[in-house]
Amino acid sequence: MSSQIDNKISLGQFFTPDSICQYMVSLFQLNTFSEIRLLDPGAGTGNLSCAFMEFLSQQKNLPSSVYANCYEIDSEIVPQLKNNLFFAEKLLDGLSVHFESNIIEGDFIETTVHSLSDHLGLFKNGLMRYTHCIINPPYKKISSNSYHAYLLREIGLETPNYYSAFVAIAVLLLESGGEIVAILPRSFCNGVYFTRFRKFFLENMSLRHIHVFESRKNIFDNNVLQENIILHAVKRKDTPMPVTLSFSRDASFQEYAEQKVAFSEVIHPDDKACYIHIPVRKTDAVISQKIKTFRQTLDDLGISVCTGPVVDFRLVDFITTKGECPLIYPRHFENGRIKWPKYHHKKTDRIFYHSETKKWLMANQ
Ligand SMILES: C[S@@+](CC[C@H](N)C(=O)[O-])C[C@H]1O[C@@H](n2cnc3c(N)ncnc32)[C@H](O)[C@@H]1O
Repeated sequence: MSSQIDNKISLGQFFTPDSICQYMVSLFQLNTFSEIRLLDPGAGTGNLSCAFMEFLSQQKNLPSSVYANCYEIDSEIVPQLKNNLFFAEKLLDGLSVHFESNIIEGDFIETTVHSLSDHLGLFKNGLMRYTHCIINPPYKKISSNSYHAYLLREIGLETPNYYSAFVAIAVLLLESGGEIVAILPRSFCNGVYFTRFRKFFLENMSLRHIHVFESRKNIFDNNVLQENIILHAVKRKDTPMPVTLSFSRDASFQEYAEQKVAFSEVIHPDDKACYIHIPVRKTDAVISQKIKTFRQTLDDLGISVCTGPVVDFRLVDFITTKGECPLIYPRHFENGRIKWPKYHHKKTDRIFYHSETKKWLMANQ
């Protein structure tokens, strides 16, 4: 049983809840193509493809045919995927839409890299161009000397995580005007590791919508604290269009709100690293405007920064009012200085010096 669980974790197997599936598919424009070719890479049990078919079946203008290609590496869940696709097909019964689904049981990266290389004349497989891609990819680091990293380099992609690799391949496989809706960790929006991926994505895709969840918990039922975003983009090189930014507290989509902002609010025009800003609230936009006025980098100022090494929820037993070392949080910044300790606050700001904690503590200098 535990090896089964290890396998699920190593495959990054967390399934998208229904409410999120439904929200994701609602972002697609479904009337652009008369023949829909859907890509679902890392399909799991097919939640996303099934939600897509359900949404499609509710449309007034239907396409003449729908082909769905679902890639899944875990043979254990393939029977469930097959079953779910069978029921999805039933939704289109009597609607004069020709439906065909295909499960590709295997490695999405390996199979598609071979097809893409074939396009360059190296292999003899066909290359399907998709009109839509719905994706919740596996999240896991790719080590630079792995087989997958080697395959990705073959098609000119160098990217640090499976999720960005899956999305980059999907972008290559989309037809012009094709759309992608993806649920991803927010981590790719900034930081140097994902700069190439961001540039690649933004050079090929027109960003249309980004949704953020305020809560970092409870999006997937896996106790992982992680910020996730949903994004919708269209494969098109056009002048940047306004982007819809929305937020909700969590997967229940309560307290949902959205607004349209200029593309330059999301990607600052002179930012060579193409950070993706998501100013969903009015106050975010004000902060973003202030940040834009800074002209120097920390390097220019001779300042280096690291994130705090103490992950407080992992060290709860050592963070008590009796701890002898200061634990500095953003709330300790006051008028350009650090003010510690802070009394009258619900959380303590002390940590014990202990063999378990000392590797995370920093010298007082
Ligand atoms: C985060 S889960 C999402 C599943 C499903 N799309 C959903 O939204 O519920 C990612 C899926 O990708 C599959 N996967 C992981 N690595 C893969 C690979 N190299 N090729 C194909 N599928 C893979 C996992 O088994 C898992 O089912």
